[in-house]
Amino acid sequence: MGMRGKFLTFEGVDGAGKTTQCDALAQALTARGVPFVRTREPGGTPLGEELRGLLLQRAMEPITEALLMFAARREHIVAVIEPALAQGRWVLCDRFTDASYAYQGGGRGLDAARLDTLAQWVQGALQPDLTVLADVAPELAQARRARVREADRFEAEALEFFLRVRAAYQARAHAEPDRFFVIDGARSPEEVTAEILQRLDPWLEARQ
Ligand code: TYD
Repeated sequence: MGMRGKFLTFEGVDGAGKTTQCDALAQALTARGVPFVRTREPGGTPLGEELRGLLLQRAMEPITEALLMFAARREHIVAVIEPALAQGRWVLCDRFTDASYAYQGGGRGLDAARLDTLAQWVQGALQPDLTVLADVAPELAQARRARVREADRFEAEALEFFLRVRAAYQARAHAEPDRFFVIDGARSPEEVTAEILQRLDPWLEARQ
């Protein structure tokens, strides 16, 4: 067996540009011949995608919402993320546990200690090697979203909700500066991609 793959996650408020960066990274890894899996949360497995459908559309109270997010995550880790990393593939994941702290914690107001318990239970020691946080003013993100699609249950939340989500993301990035790579989501996507690739360079070199 060769080296374990790297686990990269992409976070930010809806409309911050995380998916654009995830796409760009996928292209860059393909060009470099790095085997990877691209996936997302909630989702990434058949059961997870069904849960995603419920989470994005059906009204539910916040603890139920958190439990379903973590249920989908458990399936995802066991069926997709861990096997890929063990085979030496990189995993590019559009959202992971930081989103639960930001949305269910910051946004909905759930106690972080409860989320810690769920995270411990569901993922144990598994942590992303790098988390790209696309940080942008929620006002700008909202304007971008309005141009491209109809709002789902989260996207329909008021601006204040997204201000709390952003603040929770920023606090997590501040607490774990080595794991987080914060990018300014208002800058040009190409510039930002180049910066992320620079950050990944040592890991890419190590594969040569
Ligand atoms: P998102 O990746 O933004 O989907 P899309 O770009 O296709 O709209 O994710 C869907 C929503 O799920 C998003 O609004 C944030 C929310 N979410 C949580 O609230 N908690 C979580 O733990 C995760 C993973 C996502």
